[in-house]
Amino acid sequence: MTTTFVSPRLLMIGGGAVGKLAEVLGQFGFSKPLVVTDPWMVSSGTVEKALAPLRAAGITAGVFSDTVPDPTDTVIEAGVAAMKAGDYDCLVGFGGGSPMDTAKAMAILGAAPAGAKMRDFKVPAQANRGALPVIGVPTTAGTGSEATRFTVITDTERDEKMLIAGLGALPLAAVVDYELTFSLPARITADTGIDSLTHALEAFVSKRANDEADEYALRAMRLIAPNLRTAYAEPSNGIARAAMMKGATLAGIAFSNSSVALVHGMSRPIGAHFHVPHGLSNAMLLPAVTEYSLNAALPRYAEAARAMGVATAAEGDQSAAARLLQELRDLNRDLAVPTPAAYGIDPAAWNALLPTMAEQALASGSPANNPAVPAAEEIVALYRRAWAG
Ligand SMILES: NC(=O)c1ccc[n+]([C@@H]2O[C@H](COP(=O)([O-])OP(=O)(O)OC[C@H]3O[C@@H](n4cnc5c(N)ncnc54)[C@H](O)[C@@H]3O)[C@@H](O)[C@H]2O)c1
Ligand SMILES: [Fe+2]
Repeated sequence: MTTTFVSPRLLMIGGGAVGKLAEVLGQFGFSKPLVVTDPWMVSSGTVEKALAPLRAAGITAGVFSDTVPDPTDTVIEAGVAAMKAGDYDCLVGFGGGSPMDTAKAMAILGAAPAGAKMRDFKVPAQANRGALPVIGVPTTAGTGSEATRFTVITDTERDEKMLIAGLGALPLAAVVDYELTFSLPARITADTGIDSLTHALEAFVSKRANDEADEYALRAMRLIAPNLRTAYAEPSNGIARAAMMKGATLAGIAFSNSSVALVHGMSRPIGAHFHVPHGLSNAMLLPAVTEYSLNAALPRYAEAARAMGVATAAEGDQSAAARLLQELRDLNRDLAVPTPAAYGIDPAAWNALLPTMAEQALASGSPANNPAVPAAEEIVALYRRAWAG
């Protein structure tokens, strides 16, 4: 029995880390970066936090800032054209999961023969090659994309969020600076924070869980669970922001070496069809899916409850797991997570798409890693449950 464990070759974590970006590039001998980011990062001046230290070190970076939330195959193709038009030696994904995933997908598509499409790399295909190395600089706490071997790209012809996995998507280095998250609005803090908590929990209960990934998942839950409400209520709280940011990266390493499961499998179709932010669609599903899965991995859910600080070491598994479920419901209430209906999704469109969404969830492969594996009609029932809130 062997276990393979992957993570970036270099992780720099801590306040002010982005100021050392040139140093990190220099260690690898890079001097011609293309910074991949989103329009808000440019208009708000935030991208300067990456560009200024590079300029100070005599490095002029190119900037591709046309990324969109839930990046699409068409944006990746435009990114590859920009990448090939310059003489770049690395990509810096600067922003939330969307810009980082864009940079990773650009590297993968850029290494493929002319005419290749992003969907050629959808799981179960392996995307192991990258045209350029990627350095991830997250500004949300968050997806953990800076440390995962995944990128999630929308197929615009099929309205499908595709999971793409392989070493081509694994960043060479990550620069993780919680000070970049002080500007996050409360809503995005909540959504991205629940995403990272879901990564840690799903990695821990997954059928693909293993000793190594477990350590990261448990550490992530210990950091995220007691700090998420504080980061939401007090945006300038450095202790909470630092814990959330480190927790998000550790959760990324955890699920990159285990897997996500049913929540993520069901969440991607909601994002693709109704443009609900990724963390928010996870949050809408997390209590119902956990309730459905609980008895199939009771000791695991109980241990997660203890790591999150909502159950004591002395408490039995049944009681601890029940506390976990209650905590996930309370968290949604405290972080003002809307139901799909309250979010504004049209009920007729929702009901009509449920069978397709269930098929797409199953096709992504993630539900097969869940402790309890549902059939398509059970997934439809779970979507209905989440609708009711
Ligand atoms: N690759 C992976 O392993 C992985 C894991 C989970 C999710 N994802 C993907 O990541 C994407 C979601 O990423 P996300 O949740 O980080 O959101 P995002 O990157 O889409 O950003 C959401 C919004 O937050 C803004 N923002 C980002 N940082 C900010 C800051 N510091 N201050 C103020 N505003 C800021 C952005 O400009 C944007 O408007 C989805 O496409 C999801 O599928 C990927
Ligand atoms: Fe996620």
